[in-house]
Amino acid sequence: MVQLADASIDLREEILALKKERNAVILAHNYQIGAIQDIADYVGDSLGLAFRAQETDAEVIAFCGVHFMAETAKILNPDKIVVLPDKDAGCSLEQSCPTDELAAFLKENEAKNYYVITYINSSAGVKAQSDVICTSGNAVRIVEAAPKDRPILFAPDENLGAWVSEQTGRKMDMWKGNCYVHVEFTRESIAKIKEEHPDAPVVAHPECTTAVRLLADEVCSTEGMVHYCRDQKADTIIVVTEAGMLHRIQKDVPEKTLIPGPTDRCACAECRYMKMNTLEKLAACLRNLSPQVEMDEKLRKASEAPILRMLELSK
Ligand code: 13P
Ligand code: SF4
Repeated sequence: MVQLADASIDLREEILALKKERNAVILAHNYQIGAIQDIADYVGDSLGLAFRAQETDAEVIAFCGVHFMAETAKILNPDKIVVLPDKDAGCSLEQSCPTDELAAFLKENEAKNYYVITYINSSAGVKAQSDVICTSGNAVRIVEAAPKDRPILFAPDENLGAWVSEQTGRKMDMWKGNCYVHVEFTRESIAKIKEEHPDAPVVAHPECTTAVRLLADEVCSTEGMVHYCRDQKADTIIVVTEAGMLHRIQKDVPEKTLIPGPTDRCACAECRYMKMNTLEKLAACLRNLSPQVEMDEKLRKASEAPILRMLELSK
């Protein structure tokens, strides 16, 4: 037990020393394991992470999240080295919209002249075919800013799309993708936990299904959840998203009781991709400067334009 603690202290020290030596910044998503969140320079949602990646003057970005997030950092920083602890940390939403399938769909529907709004949880190839990118933190604003005289194709998350459509009153055609973690929460599993804690408000991520969202008091991005819990008078809150979120919120509001949203199978939900990253792999990627995100310049440029449009609209 003591040995394990010592090993993890050694690892932390090694990571901090490597960070200095490499002139690196460590960016981490709110779903990362606690030990990674605790050593990161910045922990946040996809939008906050994209802004931090754009602003940093570090030479190396060690991105602790999933691949599309590290790829976004590279798109914004072609001259920097972007490393990620595990290059196989994917995302079910990204996988639900392959580049060639989107290209074929847009070609088939050329006459519609779609304005394509794409969730940041997508590959560079999909981003490159989009007019603008959005995250859960700014999707309402991005849809509101879309031209009124063109139909919108919203890809790839149909649940986020349904929520944004309700919020803005804008009808959109949806790509049929979803997050395998958030669709595991069901109306029954959330209704049951609400019954057990009748005074606890529910905050849910917009990747949840409509049936789950309708049981929530607030729907927002992961960073929005931190603010919601901070501002809530209630001392117990049910948090319906990936379980790593509770570590982040609990640090902010240690006095409150946070209850993870359960699924029908488990007391909480974990994203297997987010959990691929470990302190060991973070140390190794800083030590070896590998794995790195590398990309073709033409693809980078094409995918950068809709990301920059998003960042401009989000200031
Ligand atoms: P946020 O941008 O709200 O952090 O969401 C990212 C994500 O992958 C949620 O599953
Ligand atoms: Fe992708 Fe879902 Fe994991 Fe978020 S929680 S990274 S959307 S698979």
